[in-house]
Amino acid sequence: MEVVILAAGKGTRMNSSTPKVLHSIGGKPMLSHAIDAVTELESNMIHVVVGYGAELIERYCEDNVVEASLNFVTQAEQLGTGHAVQQAIPSLTSIDDSNIVLILYGDVPLIQADTLEALLNKASANSIALLTAFTEDPAGLGRILRDGTGEVLAIVEEKDANDQQRRIKEFNTGIMALPAGKLSSWLEKLGNDNAQGEYYLTDVIEMAVAGGCTVNTLVLPDEIEAQGVNDKMQLALLERYYQNRIAGYLLNSGVTLRDPNRLDVRGEIAFGSDVEIDINVVLEGAVRLGNRVTIGPNVVIKDSVIGDDVTILAGCNIDGVEMETGCTVGPLARLRPGTKLGKDVKIGNFVETKNAIFKAGSKANHLTYVGDADIGNKVNIGAGTIFCNYDGINKQKVTLGDNVFVGSNSVLIAPVSLGDNSFVAAGSVINVAVEEDQLAISRAKQRNIDGWKRPTKK
Ligand code: UD1
Ligand code: CA
Repeated sequence: MEVVILAAGKGTRMNSSTPKVLHSIGGKPMLSHAIDAVTELESNMIHVVVGYGAELIERYCEDNVVEASLNFVTQAEQLGTGHAVQQAIPSLTSIDDSNIVLILYGDVPLIQADTLEALLNKASANSIALLTAFTEDPAGLGRILRDGTGEVLAIVEEKDANDQQRRIKEFNTGIMALPAGKLSSWLEKLGNDNAQGEYYLTDVIEMAVAGGCTVNTLVLPDEIEAQGVNDKMQLALLERYYQNRIAGYLLNSGVTLRDPNRLDVRGEIAFGSDVEIDINVVLEGAVRLGNRVTIGPNVVIKDSVIGDDVTILAGCNIDGVEMETGCTVGPLARLRPGTKLGKDVKIGNFVETKNAIFKAGSKANHLTYVGDADIGNKVNIGAGTIFCNYDGINKQKVTLGDNVFVGSNSVLIAPVSLGDNSFVAAGSVINVAVEEDQLAISRAKQRNIDGWKRPTKK
């Protein structure tokens, strides 16, 4: 069995310079969804027919598609779906009829491996398997023509159909499995004498019937699974279906979602038991949530590992972070890549961290920037503290030992270190190392002037 994925079209109705198949569903290009579905099957080869934006598509796949090895076939001019498949024929490992070719479209992202497997079971050296579905609104789709006994006769494209044919609600999903040898000979006979002047893949069905080849159909119970995307409206619609599918899976696995319609997963998530997720949460990339993690409303978490019993309060943005058990973050905190929080760390409101390691029990509760820092156990960083890690050219590090107390509104200028149990008085500017157990105070001495007369208006 070999797979041919058609992905050469521009997708004019997307009104975008990005090739259609690179538009995303759940944070992943539609083409990747199709590739993922076929990667679960046992195929000898996956051929991807590319044309418009071929370089972009190939580069995307090289950088991101690791599970499958792909063979790209170029269709220089988009002369139709039949012409597209024909470009892949010379690359097939065999054009013997025992080799089944599974054809699918790069713009049908919700298709499931199980469905493709079931379809393949209906194809053989002398039979085609065609995936169809019923829809109330088949506008724009190819219709399935059957005879009185229900046998498939042909597929007619909407633009070539008469009024009676247009009323047919069973449509061609575009996904089919065919014996390689016959497919190859039918494609050679295709013409383009039709309303769109294209070489239609769908015309092979009529040829098959004429040649005595059986056409089996698999009728999808839910048309959405085979819905193609032609415009942004359909992209948005399928995005919601995709998200509902994930939300359903999470709910069935024991995750509490305050509102399944207000969660967006754009990547792969792993989770423990008794996780609770409030509304308007976006999870991106690889996110791992431990047991009993609670996520408040309006939180974005990307590529992060969140330990057991962590509470993330409203409005946090967390990217590239590792947190151990029992941490509390937010509300309104921004944790950037390279942040590592040890056990029971507390990060409060309006705190930004980047490349900062906090050991167990340390706190930065309010209004603080912590960049390029190594922070010991049980450190307390006062409100308004700035870790001054950047001199305009280079970034350098600030190191704090255990039990350090940094008074409010202090500036720690890197590179600098503060020893265990040291104490920084509020409002200090620190650029000289503070040793263990020392108090550092670096601010103008206060003077009180007696009998001060306020200025008066002249
Ligand atoms: C096609 C089917 C139609 C079916 C519908 C399902 C044909 C003639 N029609 O119509 O029966 O109901 O899909 O969504 O097959 N492509 C190429 N090269 C080309 C033309 C298309 O690679 O020269 C690719 C496109 O990138 C896309 C797919 O084939 O991924 C389908 O093409 P599209 O133009 O969207 O076909 P439809 O008109 O929707
Ligand atoms: Ca289409």
